[in-house]
Amino acid sequence: MPAKIVEHAPAKVNLALHVTGRRDDGYHLLDTLVVFTEVGDTVSVAAAEQDSFTIQGPFAGLLDDEADNLVLRARDLLRSTHGDLPPVAITLEKNLPVASGIGGGSSDAAATLRALMRLWGIELSADALAAAALRLGADLPMCLYARTLVARGIGEEIEPVEGIPPLHMMLANPGVAVPTPAIFRALASRENPPLPRLAGAKALFDWLAATRNDLQAPAIALAPEIGDVLSALSASGAALARMSGSGATCFGLFNSPADAEAAASAIAARYPAWYVTATRTIERARADAT
Ligand code: C5P
Repeated sequence: MPAKIVEHAPAKVNLALHVTGRRDDGYHLLDTLVVFTEVGDTVSVAAAEQDSFTIQGPFAGLLDDEADNLVLRARDLLRSTHGDLPPVAITLEKNLPVASGIGGGSSDAAATLRALMRLWGIELSADALAAAALRLGADLPMCLYARTLVARGIGEEIEPVEGIPPLHMMLANPGVAVPTPAIFRALASRENPPLPRLAGAKALFDWLAATRNDLQAPAIALAPEIGDVLSALSASGAALARMSGSGATCFGLFNSPADAEAAASAIAARYPAWYVTATRTIERARADAT
């Protein structure tokens, strides 16, 4: 058994997110193109004498409600399906803002599942794992997959997307928490057209210009700071500026890493209270056993 396993929990960015309907249970049907980034949280797991959970990193202080943490719910999910599994020390390094539309909690839970399955030698088909994980949240299946994809349904129908090159990106968050259910409730229209067909990487920016995040308008209505972030991203030269998920994190796309970094430095200097980082999209989440 490896002594310690470290899994990256990348940020999830919805490049486009259309709300296409609503199920009888109130959950919304989505059609969304999702990418994952270099920046993210980290989950480490190690065999131990007794269970423990430690949160560190810049946003650790915002996660005080341990009992409800998705990391522990992911651990307990494996125990409930696989019986008596040995004690484990889990450390979460929280680098991403909390409850901010970039999948933090879901990506942490997915990384925990990946790490513990390796530590405990659990084998589950990708489909069985995704179906079980959906109980922890609608974003879990996409975060388990952690590669460029289109997700439909409430997030359980995953279609891999090939051929999108690395995108140079800035993430910016104004530091306001926006509760996901309230954003969905505030939608003016729940029956919107699905995403148009994605015709390959060449036409990506034209395709993006023809798509939306349907949650952006209701989110701005509840948290006007999101509008300020989008204006700042556009003014800094982003080819596209849009909100991710239910917000409040927004992304800007740039033509080069240097452009993204220069714009991020300028915005960070101007808005010191915001979370701002330059990053790029990744092909798949990193896993490093040590
Ligand atoms: O699945 P998750 O716990 O992330 O969802 C949080 C809340 O967001 C849900 O309880 C629901 O109110 C809303 N939601 C939704 N449709 C989705 C995903 C989430 O209405 N597809």
